[in-house]
Amino acid sequence: MTGSLELVPADTSPRDAVLPGLREAAGALAEAGVSVPSLDGKLLRSVMAFGLVAPSRRSELDLRFWSGALAVEMAHEASLLHDDVVDASDRRRGVPTVAAEFGPSVALLRGDEYLTGSYRAAARTASPAFLDVFLQAVHGTVVGERRQGRSGACPLSLAAYEELVAWKTGRLFGAAAALSALVPEASPVAEDRTKLGEELGIFYQMVDDLLDYCPAADTGKPGLQDHRRGTWTWLLGIPGAPALSAEPDEILAALTRTSEDGPPLLRRALGRLESRASALECRVQAASQGCRLLTTILQGWVTMARKGVEAQLSAEEASYVPEQAEPGDPADSALPSRAAG
Ligand code: FPP
Ligand code: MG
Repeated sequence: MTGSLELVPADTSPRDAVLPGLREAAGALAEAGVSVPSLDGKLLRSVMAFGLVAPSRRSELDLRFWSGALAVEMAHEASLLHDDVVDASDRRRGVPTVAAEFGPSVALLRGDEYLTGSYRAAARTASPAFLDVFLQAVHGTVVGERRQGRSGACPLSLAAYEELVAWKTGRLFGAAAALSALVPEASPVAEDRTKLGEELGIFYQMVDDLLDYCPAADTGKPGLQDHRRGTWTWLLGIPGAPALSAEPDEILAALTRTSEDGPPLLRRALGRLESRASALECRVQAASQGCRLLTTILQGWVTMARKGVEAQLSAEEASYVPEQAEPGDPADSALPSRAAG
């Protein structure tokens, strides 16, 4: 890579900061006959890898680094193609999933193609250390998905949930974070980057799982998928949360209602995410040596969660209508009830 990424203008979005490098690596891989995805996702894992490289060293990022970032993105795309088959999901990123549009065989094979292609991309880093972390991460992603399938509706402790999503989502984030070691640091960094990457991955999955219970949020995918699939997630472990077995409208009502215990459960869940984000932010700032890219990403996830919760609370509020008074029973007319549908 040329030195064009050395200075990222302040108004460049995190995604735009990594796109040129990824495109260069994708072009080189395509020339070798490998099918590469269109890079239209958020590219969060690449942004994280980039954000963990000291700004003064970014001019040294070459095709080895970007091939590693591409490998992570390709394995991630493969996992989503397979995930939409497993979850029988019909929308992602605001458009029909490959499985819904072309059938599960096409989705699975395209996933396989990206997955095997990702190994070829990873080999281009020429780093046995990265290859090791990456291959373990890909394996870990599959292990995590299988564990989630086995664990299903079973309620977990927060620690057990975190362990599960560390496999399913954290490992690939961790591999992306490990890429920053391809550029030797001017000064040693105390934080274990792979671990920090994994923890950011866990946090991201927690936001994703919260938003699953905010079907009014604009996520580009169907809401309540975890509920439909019978997958227990952390939100349902908050005291007072409804059971996974409850009907969707009962669950949404229980999550959005203000109770004697305090604010609606969705707001309490959001509060937990906000505290977690604050703790992570300090570590992110220390590890990214003054660069705000990662902090911006982290804050963006919190904003996404906040907007989702507010959208859901407003949607639930709008679904209440005053109950019709029974003829001759004016005393009941003040009681509210939920609108049908
Ligand atoms: C999204 O979770 C899914 C994952 C993070 C991993 C899925 C892994 C597999 C299907 C195993 C195959 C893996 C590879 C590498 C080929 P989610 O369903 O909670 O998120 P969503 O709401 O985006 O669907
Ligand atoms: Mg899914």
